[in-house]
Amino acid sequence: SRDAFDNQPLKGRRVVVTAGGTKEPIDPVRFLTNRSSGKMGYALAEAALAAGADVTLIAATKRDCSAAIHLVLAPSAKEMLKAVEEAMLDADAFIGAAAVSDFALEKPFDKKVKKTSSDSHLTLDLVQNPDILKTVGTQKKPGQVVIGFAAETNDLLQNAERKLKSKQADMIVANDVLAPSAGFDKDTNQVTLIQANQVPIEIGPKSKTAIAEDIIQQLVTILDGQ
Ligand code: CTP
Ligand code: CA
Repeated sequence: SRDAFDNQPLKGRRVVVTAGGTKEPIDPVRFLTNRSSGKMGYALAEAALAAGADVTLIAATKRDCSAAIHLVLAPSAKEMLKAVEEAMLDADAFIGAAAVSDFALEKPFDKKVKKTSSDSHLTLDLVQNPDILKTVGTQKKPGQVVIGFAAETNDLLQNAERKLKSKQADMIVANDVLAPSAGFDKDTNQVTLIQANQVPIEIGPKSKTAIAEDIIQQLVTILDGQ
């Protein structure tokens, strides 16, 4: 609970959080996106702030947040990666809560795409985006803690454990997106915290605010154990 943060356990720590669904440009008036609301990432930023951290929130989705949070808007995955790499230069922890588009147009059209009378189809060629969490995980400096999410519809724990290893994260927040309390525009969630050589910790269903506080509490435990 928030009372656990009365002693400001993250005072003097810099925490970088990503939030929201990225927007990948198609042309000057269109983009590809997903159903993420950004609520979980914003709740994590607020919980880290309440715990005394200096918080940089790199968000693809604009929402209201405390004025003390350093909010950086980064709509696309490539913009988000650039902002994250800069913020991680002097950070203690990274929490990747953004729903980063796995694919983007290699080169968006510089003029609006028009319909043609000769062809009723339009094919967009997509290429894989950089993996922000994996970049941060594989480049982390000693002492930096890296936390990611895993959005899964099936085989939750196996997929989350694979992501823990492949992205060199210290913890994965495994999110069964089809669970009744979970999902993109809800105010509630239910997650399982996965760490190497540790029993999974099941949290919720409860509010995203309360879940964020538990995740930040676990971040404090990891930082204190180092
Ligand atoms: N992630 C990221 N950059 C990407 C894709 C994902 O940083 N280009 C991060 C997300 O922010 C999340 C974690 O990786 O913290 C897992 O995202 P998820 O979509 O569940 O996994 P993927 O690795 O993209 O694999 P897949 O979607 O194929 O399951
Ligand atoms: Ca993905």
